[in-house]
Amino acid sequence: MTYQFSNRVPKTNNDPVGDILKAAADPKVTSFAGGLPAPELFPVEQVKAAADKVLAEKGPAALQYSSAQGVPELRNVVLKRLEVEGIHTTADNVMIATGSQQSIDLTAKMFLDEGSAVIVEDPTYLTAVDVFRSYGAHFVGVDMDEDGMRMDSLEEALKNNPDTRLIYTVPTFQNPTGRTMTLERRKKLVALADKYDVMVLEDNPYGAIRWEGENLPSLRSLDKTGHVIYMGTMSKVFAPGLRIGWVVAEPKLLKKYTMMKQSADLHTDSFSQYVCAQYFTDNDINDHIKRITALYHKREQLMMSAIDKYFPAGVQHSNPQGGMFLWVMVPGVKSSQQLFDAAMKRNVAVVPGDPFYGNQPEPGTFRMNYSNTPEEGIVDGVKQLAAALDEVMSVTAPK
Ligand SMILES: Cc1ncc(COP(=O)(O)O)c(C=O)c1O
Repeated sequence: MTYQFSNRVPKTNNDPVGDILKAAADPKVTSFAGGLPAPELFPVEQVKAAADKVLAEKGPAALQYSSAQGVPELRNVVLKRLEVEGIHTTADNVMIATGSQQSIDLTAKMFLDEGSAVIVEDPTYLTAVDVFRSYGAHFVGVDMDEDGMRMDSLEEALKNNPDTRLIYTVPTFQNPTGRTMTLERRKKLVALADKYDVMVLEDNPYGAIRWEGENLPSLRSLDKTGHVIYMGTMSKVFAPGLRIGWVVAEPKLLKKYTMMKQSADLHTDSFSQYVCAQYFTDNDINDHIKRITALYHKREQLMMSAIDKYFPAGVQHSNPQGGMFLWVMVPGVKSSQQLFDAAMKRNVAVVPGDPFYGNQPEPGTFRMNYSNTPEEGIVDGVKQLAAALDEVMSVTAPK
């Protein structure tokens, strides 16, 4: 049987990241590879109480089909989260999605044709790369530094690619680097989007998990011309298994999202939406976020001090003020896979940098996650990783 797949289907069954995560799941392995929240902080009892209440008080509605835009109770909860981001809007401008991942997919479906240019940070969230690629995107990577996407490179990219349909950015505690875009750059990005009349997709799953520095306004709150589409999610501050995210856009655009959403999956799981809304009504999410932030900060500090103590000289890393990831750059290494292989020999897993790039990867890079590794594994894992880096760097160092 020969399958006649569409262009959207990957040509091979290679799934390097899936393979890495499978290898990392071996109990012998200390994994800094995944991107999962700490499961010990999931508010299981409170969610159970919320689910019981929903079934007792709104059972039939929670088990019934609901609207594509999302149940009003949850959209009202989302409005309160948006206020924190400086986004003052109404429930009409919010659509619930099945996680941010669906918001990315619907956005790609709405804006991209085969060959359309998408501007992304270099590096960027790897599963967004997969989505954009499946819709035939042509990637234009923009350099980053510790202050986020570089605006001179962005303007250059916009000038050279007049067919750009989207700028995709994770401005705060970016996946994979943990970097945050400065206020000055946020203002510039919004101004460039207006000047070149290009839509921006602002993806903000990690912004609430901050332990240092000042909260910065979202791009959406700075945008006065309707160029920024904002996406949020419950995945990192509450529970990814509920699959709840949201899109905020201008009314005309939101109408299109709702139509596209309807054809994709009719609506996000009604029961999850009601349970989530009930949890937020009965509990203080800010207390919960404080607990998450404190734990991730503790783990990050442990990881950073071990890195500073054990990593070979010359290895650089980002310094996140929140979120779940940091990015490591190893000088003189020809391939990121080499670093992964050396680390796995010592039972430590990281994600090599390559899949985070739309085009040419930067060799010698990898992502480390600290949210999901219990404290007792962190220092020893970093020590083993340091030995792996030593090994690779001593082979590749100029003689
Ligand atoms: C930057 C970014 N965007 C979107 C997502 C998808 O999140 P969700 O669980 O809301 O679909 C993730 C998940 O890790 C992410 O890191």
